[in-house]
Amino acid sequence: MADIILGIESSCDDTSAAVIRDGVLLSNVIASQQVHKDFGGVVPELASRAHEQNIVPVVSQALDKAGVKPEELTAIAFTRGPGLLGSLLVGTSFAKALSLSLDIPMVMVNHLQGHILANFIRQPDKPVTEPSFPYLCLLVSGGNSQIVKVASPLEYEILGQTIDDAVGEAFDKCSKMLGLGYPGGPVIDRLAKLGDPDRFHFAKPNIPGLDYSFSGIKTSLLYFVRDEMAKDPHFLENNKEDLCASFQKTLIDILMGKLIRAAKETRIREITIGGGVSANSGLRERIVSEGKKRGWKTYLPEFKFTTDNAAMIAVAGWFRYKAGERTPLDVAPVSRLADY
Ligand code: KG4
Repeated sequence: MADIILGIESSCDDTSAAVIRDGVLLSNVIASQQVHKDFGGVVPELASRAHEQNIVPVVSQALDKAGVKPEELTAIAFTRGPGLLGSLLVGTSFAKALSLSLDIPMVMVNHLQGHILANFIRQPDKPVTEPSFPYLCLLVSGGNSQIVKVASPLEYEILGQTIDDAVGEAFDKCSKMLGLGYPGGPVIDRLAKLGDPDRFHFAKPNIPGLDYSFSGIKTSLLYFVRDEMAKDPHFLENNKEDLCASFQKTLIDILMGKLIRAAKETRIREITIGGGVSANSGLRERIVSEGKKRGWKTYLPEFKFTTDNAAMIAVAGWFRYKAGERTPLDVAPVSRLADY
């Protein structure tokens, strides 16, 4: 009999539900919350309230679109963490209630594993492009920047990670500083395409090993803009594109420097990216071009699977379900998960 898995994702500000049958995606519904726009970031209290309103219609829609009745489900995969606790509680509690009422098991998923396995979302009528194990994943989002060695769908080793800000935070904070709004990544990405990436230079951190640091570059940009504005009050508006292009290039250089080193040290040439920042067009181009130069096989998740979605949770949960994992009903969500 086929395994039909319902995935539920509610870790931050997207309420999402997806259905997969034997790993093939049947539906993936995402309700993105607009209530945070005026606040320059996600407001946790508003996020949990919106999840509470969205969860039932989103799950119903996902089942309808998939043409699957609730009684046909094999298991429910849900995000246990990391994320905003109030948001996670909504998805977790919903998963428990449905699991109880349908008398089917539930399987908890680490949200980050979802991003790392995003290339395993199979779609009907699309060729399968999946990395072989072991592979390296550059996991880059608003909360994380890591290089992860993935030995199997259940075995992860963090080779390096940020010691302070995540790269997505650097995009967001600098965008705010430049008056470009939130979230910063997509705006900077768009403006960077119009600018000269070699016009300005920002200090790069010198961190040992495979770890990252992104807090210094923020300060570097802040002081640079402040000094230039003192000379020319129109500096920012006249140089927005070049600033974005140069800033984005610096972030990509930093990310790629350590990734190249990790690939050399581990001799792994299967390379993937995941997380919100993996939507960045400059980063995607660089991964592909470096890959060609270095004999890597590179795998980029489709844009729609770079941001938070339940399809990746369903897939990650399916791997766990097949391995025999089941999550008890007294499970609690956690805002931080120490490791994988
Ligand atoms: O994975 P994600 O949706 O949420 C979590 O952090 O869990 O990532 C959100 C981050 C934000 O910092 C946003 O600015 C960034 O992803 N982002 C981008 C792009 N699109 C989203 N960063 C750079 N370029 C983009 N095109």
